[in-house]
Amino acid sequence: MSNTHILNHPVITHKISLLRDQETQPANFRRLVGDIAQLEAYEALKDIATHKETVVTPLETIQADKIEETNICLVPILRAGLGMSDGISRMLPYACVGHIGLYRDETTHEAHEYYARFPKKVADMDVLLLDPMLATGGSAVDAVRQLRARGVKRISFLCIIAAPEGVARFEKEFPDIPLYIGALDRELNENCYILPGLGDAGDRIFGTVD
Ligand code: PRP
Ligand code: URA
Repeated sequence: MSNTHILNHPVITHKISLLRDQETQPANFRRLVGDIAQLEAYEALKDIATHKETVVTPLETIQADKIEETNICLVPILRAGLGMSDGISRMLPYACVGHIGLYRDETTHEAHEYYARFPKKVADMDVLLLDPMLATGGSAVDAVRQLRARGVKRISFLCIIAAPEGVARFEKEFPDIPLYIGALDRELNENCYILPGLGDAGDRIFGTVD
Protein backbone atom coordinates (compact mmCIF):
# COMPACT_ATOMS: atom_id res chain seq x y z
CA MET A 1 0.00 0.00 0.00
CA SER A 2 1.35 3.46 -0.92
CA ASN A 3 2.50 5.77 1.86
CA THR A 4 1.89 8.86 -0.27
CA HIS A 5 -0.99 11.11 0.75
CA ILE A 6 -2.06 13.88 -1.62
CA LEU A 7 -4.18 16.23 0.48
CA ASN A 8 -6.78 17.24 -2.06
CA HIS A 9 -8.65 19.47 0.37
CA PRO A 10 -10.35 22.64 -0.92
CA VAL A 11 -8.94 24.82 1.89
CA ILE A 12 -5.38 23.63 1.21
CA THR A 13 -5.85 23.92 -2.57
CA HIS A 14 -7.21 27.46 -2.15
CA LYS A 15 -4.23 28.54 -0.06
CA ILE A 16 -1.78 26.92 -2.50
CA SER A 17 -3.45 28.85 -5.34
CA LEU A 18 -2.76 32.07 -3.42
CA LEU A 19 0.88 30.98 -2.95
CA ARG A 20 1.31 30.34 -6.66
CA ASP A 21 0.24 33.91 -7.55
CA GLN A 22 3.36 35.91 -8.37
CA GLU A 23 1.69 39.00 -6.82
CA THR A 24 1.64 37.37 -3.35
CA GLN A 25 4.22 39.23 -1.27
CA PRO A 26 6.55 37.66 1.38
CA ALA A 27 4.50 38.60 4.46
CA ASN A 28 1.37 36.97 3.08
CA PHE A 29 3.37 34.13 1.50
CA ARG A 30 4.91 33.23 4.88
CA ARG A 31 1.51 33.27 6.59
CA LEU A 32 0.03 30.98 3.92
CA VAL A 33 2.96 28.54 4.11
CA GLY A 34 2.45 28.38 7.88
CA ASP A 35 -1.31 27.80 7.53
CA ILE A 36 -0.85 25.00 4.99
CA ALA A 37 1.86 23.36 7.09
CA GLN A 38 -0.47 23.34 10.11
CA LEU A 39 -3.21 21.64 8.10
CA GLU A 40 -0.75 19.04 6.79
CA ALA A 41 0.67 18.38 10.25
CA TYR A 42 -2.85 17.93 11.61
CA GLU A 43 -3.34 15.13 9.06
CA ALA A 44 0.15 13.64 9.48
CA LEU A 45 -0.29 13.36 13.26
CA LYS A 46 -3.71 11.79 13.22
CA ASP A 47 -2.42 8.42 14.51
CA ILE A 48 0.09 9.76 17.06
CA ALA A 49 0.04 8.03 20.44
CA THR A 50 -2.02 9.52 23.25
CA HIS A 51 -1.88 8.90 27.00
CA LYS A 52 -4.18 9.61 29.91
CA GLU A 53 -3.57 12.43 32.37
CA THR A 54 -5.64 13.64 35.25
CA VAL A 55 -7.44 16.89 34.42
CA VAL A 56 -9.67 18.73 36.85
CA THR A 57 -12.48 20.52 35.06
CA PRO A 58 -14.64 23.02 36.98
CA LEU A 59 -17.12 20.14 37.44
CA GLU A 60 -15.22 16.82 37.58
CA THR A 61 -11.86 15.11 37.70
CA ILE A 62 -11.27 13.01 34.58
CA GLN A 63 -8.60 10.95 32.84
CA ALA A 64 -8.09 13.04 29.69
CA ASP A 65 -6.22 12.14 26.48
CA LYS A 66 -3.04 14.06 25.70
CA ILE A 67 -0.13 13.72 23.28
CA GLU A 68 3.52 14.01 24.36
CA GLU A 69 4.13 17.26 22.51
CA THR A 70 7.80 17.47 23.53
CA ASN A 71 8.40 14.14 21.80
CA ILE A 72 7.57 15.68 18.41
CA CYS A 73 10.51 17.11 16.48
CA LEU A 74 9.97 19.47 13.55
CA VAL A 75 12.88 19.41 11.12
CA PRO A 76 12.73 22.17 8.53
CA ILE A 77 15.09 21.92 5.56
CA LEU A 78 16.68 25.38 5.34
CA ARG A 79 15.75 27.84 4.17
CA ALA A 80 12.22 27.34 2.92
CA GLY A 81 11.20 24.71 5.49
CA LEU A 82 11.41 27.40 8.19
CA GLY A 83 8.13 28.83 6.94
CA MET A 84 6.49 25.48 7.66
CA SER A 85 8.07 24.92 11.10
CA ASP A 86 7.04 28.44 12.19
CA GLY A 87 3.42 27.63 11.33
CA ILE A 88 3.39 24.24 13.04
CA SER A 89 5.12 25.67 16.12
CA ARG A 90 2.15 27.98 16.59
CA MET A 91 -0.07 24.87 16.83
CA LEU A 92 2.42 22.73 18.83
CA PRO A 93 4.50 25.23 20.81
CA TYR A 94 6.27 22.54 22.87
CA ALA A 95 7.52 20.55 19.86
CA CYS A 96 11.31 20.59 19.45
CA VAL A 97 12.91 21.92 16.28
CA GLY A 98 15.99 20.48 14.57
CA HIS A 99 17.52 21.97 11.42
CA ILE A 100 19.08 20.64 8.23
CA GLY A 101 20.77 23.14 5.90
CA LEU A 102 20.79 22.09 2.25
CA TYR A 103 21.10 24.05 -0.97
CA ARG A 104 20.73 22.87 -4.55
CA ASP A 105 23.67 23.42 -6.84
CA GLU A 106 22.32 25.62 -9.65
CA THR A 107 24.06 23.58 -12.36
CA THR A 108 23.90 19.98 -11.18
CA HIS A 109 20.71 20.46 -9.06
CA GLU A 110 22.24 18.18 -6.46
CA ALA A 111 21.69 18.92 -2.77
CA HIS A 112 24.67 20.05 -0.65
CA GLU A 113 24.61 20.01 3.12
CA TYR A 114 25.89 23.00 5.10
CA TYR A 115 24.29 22.60 8.53
CA ALA A 116 22.70 19.98 10.77
CA ARG A 117 21.60 20.23 14.39
CA PHE A 118 19.07 18.06 16.20
CA PRO A 119 17.78 17.51 19.74
CA LYS A 120 19.90 14.91 21.59
CA LYS A 121 17.07 12.39 21.84
CA VAL A 122 15.94 12.79 18.20
CA ALA A 123 16.30 9.03 17.53
CA ASP A 124 13.28 8.37 19.77
CA MET A 125 11.11 11.25 18.58
CA ASP A 126 8.30 11.55 16.03
CA VAL A 127 9.97 13.62 13.32
CA LEU A 128 8.09 15.80 10.83
CA LEU A 129 10.57 16.65 8.06
CA LEU A 130 9.48 19.87 6.33
CA ASP A 131 10.18 21.42 2.95
CA PRO A 132 7.60 23.21 0.80
CA MET A 133 9.10 21.89 -2.47
CA LEU A 134 9.80 18.30 -3.56
CA ALA A 135 11.34 18.78 -7.02
CA THR A 136 14.01 16.23 -8.03
CA GLY A 137 13.77 14.78 -4.51
CA GLY A 138 17.51 15.18 -3.91
CA SER A 139 17.13 17.42 -0.84
CA ALA A 140 14.44 15.28 0.79
CA VAL A 141 16.36 12.05 0.21
CA ASP A 142 19.54 13.55 1.65
CA ALA A 143 17.67 14.87 4.70
CA VAL A 144 16.02 11.51 5.42
CA ARG A 145 19.40 9.77 5.14
CA GLN A 146 20.80 12.19 7.73
CA LEU A 147 17.96 11.46 10.11
CA ARG A 148 18.25 7.72 9.58
CA ALA A 149 22.00 7.91 10.20
CA ARG A 150 21.14 9.36 13.62
CA GLY A 151 18.86 6.44 14.35
CA VAL A 152 15.51 8.19 13.79
CA LYS A 153 12.80 5.58 13.30
CA ARG A 154 9.58 7.58 12.94
CA ILE A 155 9.73 10.13 10.11
CA SER A 156 7.00 11.74 8.00
CA PHE A 157 7.87 14.11 5.16
CA LEU A 158 5.55 17.08 4.53
CA CYS A 159 5.78 19.21 1.40
CA ILE A 160 3.40 21.72 -0.15
CA ILE A 161 4.05 21.17 -3.87
CA ALA A 162 5.64 18.08 -5.41
CA ALA A 163 6.73 17.07 -8.90
CA PRO A 164 6.06 13.50 -10.09
CA GLU A 165 9.84 13.00 -10.51
CA GLY A 166 10.51 13.81 -6.85
CA VAL A 167 7.64 11.67 -5.60
CA ALA A 168 8.86 8.67 -7.62
CA ARG A 169 12.39 9.06 -6.27
CA PHE A 170 11.23 9.47 -2.67
CA GLU A 171 8.86 6.48 -2.86
CA LYS A 172 11.56 4.29 -4.40
CA GLU A 173 14.12 5.20 -1.71
CA PHE A 174 11.78 5.23 1.26
CA PRO A 175 8.61 3.24 0.60
CA ASP A 176 8.06 3.02 4.37
CA ILE A 177 8.05 6.78 5.05
CA PRO A 178 4.70 8.61 4.91
CA LEU A 179 4.79 11.43 2.36
CA TYR A 180 2.21 14.24 2.65
CA ILE A 181 1.74 16.49 -0.39
CA GLY A 182 -0.46 19.58 -0.66
CA ALA A 183 -0.57 19.55 -4.49
CA LEU A 184 1.00 17.25 -7.08
CA ASP A 185 2.12 19.37 -10.04
CA ARG A 186 2.79 18.46 -13.69
CA GLU A 187 6.56 18.24 -14.21
CA LEU A 188 10.01 19.79 -13.79
CA ASN A 189 11.41 22.27 -16.29
CA GLU A 190 14.97 22.17 -17.68
CA ASN A 191 16.24 23.94 -14.51
CA CYS A 192 14.47 21.43 -12.28
CA TYR A 193 11.84 23.95 -11.16
CA ILE A 194 8.33 22.62 -10.61
CA LEU A 195 5.68 23.53 -13.24
CA PRO A 196 3.35 25.29 -12.67
CA GLY A 197 4.79 25.53 -9.13
CA LEU A 198 5.34 28.80 -7.28
CA GLY A 199 8.93 29.70 -8.20
CA ASP A 200 11.72 29.62 -5.63
CA ALA A 201 10.08 29.00 -2.26
CA GLY A 202 13.00 30.32 -0.18
CA ASP A 203 13.23 33.54 -2.17
CA ARG A 204 9.49 34.11 -1.92
CA ILE A 205 9.37 33.46 1.84
CA PHE A 206 12.34 35.68 2.64
CA GLY A 207 11.93 38.34 -0.06
CA THR A 208 15.25 37.62 -1.74
CA VAL A 209 13.83 37.63 -5.28
CA ASP A 210 16.08 39.77 -7.52
C1 PRP B 1 14.66 24.38 -2.61
C2 PRP B 1 13.55 23.79 -1.78
C3 PRP B 1 14.06 22.40 -1.51
C4 PRP B 1 14.80 22.05 -2.77
C5 PRP B 1 13.92 21.14 -3.58
O1 PRP B 1 15.69 24.79 -1.80
O2 PRP B 1 13.25 24.50 -0.63
O3 PRP B 1 14.92 22.32 -0.38
O4 PRP B 1 15.03 23.28 -3.47
O5 PRP B 1 14.56 20.71 -4.71
P1 PRP B 1 15.02 19.18 -4.93
O6 PRP B 1 13.84 18.34 -4.62
O7 PRP B 1 15.37 19.16 -6.40
O8 PRP B 1 16.19 18.90 -4.06
P2 PRP B 1 17.05 25.47 -2.34
O9 PRP B 1 18.08 24.41 -2.55
O10 PRP B 1 16.73 26.36 -3.50
O11 PRP B 1 17.56 26.28 -1.09
P3 PRP B 1 16.91 27.53 -0.31
O12 PRP B 1 15.73 26.98 0.47
O13 PRP B 1 18.02 27.96 0.57
O14 PRP B 1 16.49 28.56 -1.32
N1 URA C 1 12.93 24.60 -5.31
C1 URA C 1 12.04 25.62 -5.33
O1 URA C 1 12.06 26.49 -4.45
N2 URA C 1 11.14 25.64 -6.32
C2 URA C 1 11.10 24.71 -7.28
O2 URA C 1 10.23 24.78 -8.18
C3 URA C 1 12.04 23.68 -7.25
C4 URA C 1 12.94 23.64 -6.23
